Amino acid sequence: MNRTVDIAPSILAANFSCLGDEIRAAERGGAAILHVDVMDGHFVPNITVGLPVVKSLASFTKLPIDAHLMISEPGIYATQFVEAGARMVSVHVETDPNLHRTLTAIRAAGAHPGVVLNPATPLSSIEEALQFVDYVLVMSVNPGFGGQKFIPQILDKVKRLRQLIDQRQLNVRIEIDGGVDRNNIETVVEAGAEIIVAGSAVFGTGDAENAVKELRNATIQWV
Ligand code: DX5
Ligand code: ZN
Repeated sequence: MNRTVDIAPSILAANFSCLGDEIRAAERGGAAILHVDVMDGHFVPNITVGLPVVKSLASFTKLPIDAHLMISEPGIYATQFVEAGARMVSVHVETDPNLHRTLTAIRAAGAHPGVVLNPATPLSSIEEALQFVDYVLVMSVNPGFGGQKFIPQILDKVKRLRQLIDQRQLNVRIEIDGGVDRNNIETVVEAGAEIIVAGSAVFGTGDAENAVKELRNATIQWV
């Protein structure tokens, strides 16, 4: 199989008082993408960061910023995240009744559109949306918090999604988010994931550079 595996550290687990240093360390380790969790306190029971932070980070790092929108009414804000500098913007299928409109607007604004599925949301809910996205983010924890335990039943969903994408010969990448670490990263890549989000497993270790290197090494046979 020929698939590029990218590590996408999630800044949610970083020390925000020295975010720049944390990001530089992840860059040195070989991070490919920077995952930014945007939470509004409505769609998920937590509040994090928004447009100004994405804007600052976009001028600070060359890594493409992946804005994971865990917000109600993402259609109102999605293109603003593109304007702020996000190169990938993902929207939860559970919160957007006008998904096609939002995804095409993200693409028209110049970024890669992605759709996100919560752990209990079936694959069938994105069957039609698949043709409008560049990636599908499969949540392996319930969104809202870092440091949660990986839900192993999600692997089956990733495998079925991989099959669906391959059968239809779509150019769509699979991203996985939540509870991924050195112990399970090989299993998630084997199941078909290509963009691996890791928060605690990178910034919770005290040595983000080395943590990213180790995650990359664990998937080296796929790269
Ligand atoms: C959870 C977020 C994740 C989170 C992952 O709602 O979407 O991106 O930061 O953190 P870990 O890797 O610690 O589970
Ligand atoms: Zn996320």
